[in-house]
Amino acid sequence: MLKSYLESKRKLIDLNIELYLDKLVYPKVIAEGMKYSILNGGKRLRPILLLMVLELYGKKLELGIPTAVAIEFIHSYSLVHDDLPALDNDEYRRGKLTTHKKFGEAAAILIGDALLTHSFSIVTDKTKDVSYEKIVKIISMISRYSGINGMIGGQMVDIESEKKMVSLETLEYIHRNKTGKLLKLPVEIGAIISDASDDEYTALKRYSEALGLAFQIQDDILDIEGEFEKIGKPIGSDLELEKTTYPSLFGLIESKTILAKVIEEAKRSLDIFEKEKVQNFIQLADYIGNRDN
Ligand code: IPE
Ligand code: IPE
Ligand code: MG
Ligand code: MG
Ligand code: MG
Repeated sequence: MLKSYLESKRKLIDLNIELYLDKLVYPKVIAEGMKYSILNGGKRLRPILLLMVLELYGKKLELGIPTAVAIEFIHSYSLVHDDLPALDNDEYRRGKLTTHKKFGEAAAILIGDALLTHSFSIVTDKTKDVSYEKIVKIISMISRYSGINGMIGGQMVDIESEKKMVSLETLEYIHRNKTGKLLKLPVEIGAIISDASDDEYTALKRYSEALGLAFQIQDDILDIEGEFEKIGKPIGSDLELEKTTYPSLFGLIESKTILAKVIEEAKRSLDIFEKEKVQNFIQLADYIGNRDN
């Protein structure tokens, strides 16, 4: 069952996140703010994806734990900054006050910065079983996928595109970068650690690209028909900011048709693997297309 699988992996990730956070104490507001921003009930999908790839190759999960935790730090930072008044100006995240609402704007900016910068010290931690060559490749990939050619690029064009209708091409750029890159990142890193063959690497990469796009299309849909109690963030945030989203370009029904196609594309990408070996990936794709939180 995918649900219990995700739950057990989430617990493993949470435990490790806490171990890293426990080491942080001063300044108190930064340490507390980092804990607050991460330990408030995220789904941990990105770290779980990394562990799933390691499992596919029968690797020890410890090999990927530091990087998995680091990626969750970066994801959490992206959310803290995404919610700031200057960006999406949201007051709730994961059912609780956003970091700037709780700690103030200046602290929230620094808490986000601290999450990002500290993540690099985590990646380089306990690396004895992963070669330095791989670690350097991983660090390079994390910085590229998080920055101008990744999440930040997508976030900037998202912000610039408010209050106007942008083309599908631009919308795809936004989604593939602001959300897609941080979902692709753990899959590619898992494949690097596991020494996947070129064909397998390409297949996993295609899977993660489709999954990332699907994830954000569903996020756009949930912004319209989700329930606050489940998604933990305000409904209608995109409408209020006049963002271009899949539903704003295509309407809800057509967006769902596109979403279903992208999910099928994700599943098809894994055709080169034996079906039993990638059951979790297939089920995860279906879950992403139907998720309500
Ligand atoms: C939310 O990501 C932001 C987007 C990229 C759409 P998640 O839905 O993975 O957020 P958490 O971590 O589970 O709260
Ligand atoms: C944000 O997309 C993606 C990142 C945080 C990089 P959204 O702005 O749609 O995410 P939510 O809906 O606030 O979680
Ligand atoms: Mg946003
Ligand atoms: Mg937002
Ligand atoms: Mg959203």
